[in-house]
Amino acid sequence: MSLPVEGSTVLVTGGAGYIGSHTCLQLLEAGCKVVVVDNLDNSSEESLRRVKELIPGKAENLSFHNCDILDEAGLDKAFAAQKVDAVIHFAGLKAVGESVAKPMRYYSNNIAGTVTLVAAMERAGCKSIIFSSSATVYGEPATVPCTEDFPTAALNPYGRTKLFIEHMLTDLQASDAQWQVVLLRYFNPVGAHPSGRIGEDPKGIPNNLMPFVQQVAVGRRPQLSVYGDDYPTSDGTGKRDYIHVMDLADGHVAALCKVRKDEDCGCITVNLGTGTSTSVLELVNSFAKASGKEIPMQIVARRPGDAAEVYAKTDRALEVLGWSAKNSIEQCCIDQWKWASENPYGYGGPE
Ligand code: NAD
Ligand code: UFG
Repeated sequence: MSLPVEGSTVLVTGGAGYIGSHTCLQLLEAGCKVVVVDNLDNSSEESLRRVKELIPGKAENLSFHNCDILDEAGLDKAFAAQKVDAVIHFAGLKAVGESVAKPMRYYSNNIAGTVTLVAAMERAGCKSIIFSSSATVYGEPATVPCTEDFPTAALNPYGRTKLFIEHMLTDLQASDAQWQVVLLRYFNPVGAHPSGRIGEDPKGIPNNLMPFVQQVAVGRRPQLSVYGDDYPTSDGTGKRDYIHVMDLADGHVAALCKVRKDEDCGCITVNLGTGTSTSVLELVNSFAKASGKEIPMQIVARRPGDAAEVYAKTDRALEVLGWSAKNSIEQCCIDQWKWASENPYGYGGPE
């Protein structure tokens, strides 16, 4: 059965990155033409080369512009090469700690970058945007699961950029009903394409749990620090909603279907999560089983700003997008390990 996105042209900012590369693949599978705009700040073109290799018959439907979203002329050139039906906007900086140390870098790249992108879209006559937001906009939620109408809060400059861009795009759509805006709030993306050819390749020391566990398993880091075992959870460690990156990618295809078939969709906010949570110890055990490796770990103090438990209410995603996550945490670990064991240094060589 063909999807309503078949034949659509989608400009994907940040398409060479972790979530972007998996989404490009699923868009190509669904019959879209994909135009990637990425400045390779946190990625390499190798990811796109491998996406093409995974989809041999449709590789010519992917084009790449090495371009910063702050570069007006570069964006105009990327839009001018063909008529673009919708934009999926992943490009952004995402390291929470770095955003505290270098806030202006985050405000410039994420917020000014989005302003520049929206202006280029208006010049090109494209008024449909799907934006990568984050569960970070729930701050430390008072209860779980998080529904989309929960109060929002920002705990750091990174979170403030996500929240501000959400407000900005909401105001834009309210000012002009021709705009279609989908704000996707991701929970914790993990895993990799089951082929093991594409996956997450963080630069430096990973901030997030799964890539850190992966690097311990392949011997790049001696042990995992578990941030606290005295939370009010089943085993005392923090619990999160880990979502397989392929499910997340399919969530973007579902969002694109929505904007392509419902021109009056307006502005929609949707959680992309699984609706269940997994503790740090459960994730480590699952990864140890998938990899056959022991994961040395040490319990250390809580990380400031960490909530005990965060997971998504997923009803709206099913109702509005007809989408739900399919993969278990076990499958996430199996696919993460295939990627890690076959690419221990990601797309590059040893540091
Ligand atoms: P990533 O760093 O792998 O991908 C982001 C891509 O954007 C990279 O390829 C980078 O080179 C590119 N980029 C950054 N600034 C740019 C600029 N000014 N111009 C052009 N390209 C630029 O990150 P990811 O994990 O794939 O995340 C994608 C999006 O999803 C980000 O906006 C991130 O904030 C959001 N998000 C990620 C997570 C997560 O845990 N991975 C969770 C919630 C939301
Ligand atoms: N954790 C450890 N040790 C580590 C890293 C993490 O014990 O080395 C624990 C954390 O305390 C937390 C859980 O593992 O309980 C998950 O931590 P992550 O850093 O992987 O994920 P967070 O949920 O804290 O935050 C991430 C991003 C946020 C984003 C959020 C939801 O960093 O920006 O996912 O998308 F908002």
